[in-house]
Amino acid sequence: MPVKISVHERSVRESVLYQDKNFYISLAQMRRISRDFRSEMARGLAGDKSSLKMIPAYVDKPSGNEAGRFIALDLGGTNLRILQLELKGKGRILKHGEKKVVLGEKYIKGTAQSLFDFIAGFIKDFLREEGLEQTSGLMLGFTFSFPIQQSGIASGILVHWTKDFSVSGVVGKDVVVLLEAALKKKGIQNVSVAALVNDTVGTLAAGSYKDPACDIAVILGTGTNACYQEKLSNILKWPGRKSKTGKMIVNIEWGNFNKIQLTEYDRLLDKKSDNPGFQILEKMVSGMYLGEIARLLMVDLIKRKLLFRGGNLAVLGKEKIFKTEYMSRIEFDNSAEGVDIEALLKGLKVADSSAQDRLLIKSICAAVSTRATRISAAVLAGVITKIDPSLSRRHTVAVDGSVYEKYPGFAGNIEAALKELFGKKSRNIVLKVTKDGSGIGAAIIAGIV
Ligand code: BGC
Repeated sequence: MPVKISVHERSVRESVLYQDKNFYISLAQMRRISRDFRSEMARGLAGDKSSLKMIPAYVDKPSGNEAGRFIALDLGGTNLRILQLELKGKGRILKHGEKKVVLGEKYIKGTAQSLFDFIAGFIKDFLREEGLEQTSGLMLGFTFSFPIQQSGIASGILVHWTKDFSVSGVVGKDVVVLLEAALKKKGIQNVSVAALVNDTVGTLAAGSYKDPACDIAVILGTGTNACYQEKLSNILKWPGRKSKTGKMIVNIEWGNFNKIQLTEYDRLLDKKSDNPGFQILEKMVSGMYLGEIARLLMVDLIKRKLLFRGGNLAVLGKEKIFKTEYMSRIEFDNSAEGVDIEALLKGLKVADSSAQDRLLIKSICAAVSTRATRISAAVLAGVITKIDPSLSRRHTVAVDGSVYEKYPGFAGNIEAALKELFGKKSRNIVLKVTKDGSGIGAAIIAGIV
């Protein structure tokens, strides 16, 4: 006898199928993304039109023997951070002091002057607290986690802002010049900027300082990006120059990759964003956006009366109300009735959720996050096969970022997708959480210079 299911249960099932159709990335699609990504990398390296900027970082991986005392300044997320580090050589690092502060809207959406004056004041306080005011010749590594077109290891022009930054008067300017001018204004004369690095480059430096097989770094946090070690002879747009090693780190800026199929929700999110048409991959993968995609999907299902029987639109209709960290909590709830999901929804003032509603929300989160992991694996596979087409040797991938570290199942799903793509050979890819690359790494790079 056929099992009877209720109308509501049927609608839940239909909507789950519906999400799968929209969000599922098959193995064939991952292969296509990976191939297109490699072609975009090659075009970017040749200086041809590409969604990938492929920015030479003017530095190669460290040897592990860099030594000395350095200051690292880290700007790129919610926190502004400064650290004093001592590199001891042989991959050993000592952290001496650290200070951080949350950057409010006033600074991340204000003017260049107010942001850089604030940063210089923050550095001044740190030097005083650490007793470094009279120490001469302090070298600073500056991690700036945005697309910067570098013209040397200690200079770079901001191409455009990403994530939720939109400070006026910085795009098109050299951020090191802006920082040094602000330091001068505050009377700080003993600090010079020795290196300007992207957070991916810092993470690669931190990962490879300890492990020579590390040749790729990935950030999966508020934003997303990757960098890798490339042969100079392949960086066609950068001809005629030599380096000791014949190699250089390239900042891919993979968040801007756009050869990828969008759903109607992605299009809507992009249209309403600060930077429409840009950072397409980032908008499908990173912590800044996953919650909003899930919210748009929920709103659609509410309108189709497939979720909350058509209710709660007033709450969930509000832009950006549903954060990625909620998705994390929801996917973590393995109870049959979605007990913690109910508590979370109540906190958001979402009323009268049934157990089916809650399970449906969980499956929405899973559809959105699983897509993010499969896209991440596909583009990572593109980078790996660009360096080593037959995956013949080991590659350690240094990974940092809250989404990778904290989102339940995220890391495991990326590894599973890499296994689908490469079979047993995926053992040659080792993803290693490399905490704090954006702090330590800038100091290591200042030590190479
Ligand atoms: C920026 C990258 C950065 C990444 C991770 C992106 O929005 O464009 O430069 O590496 O975020 O912080």
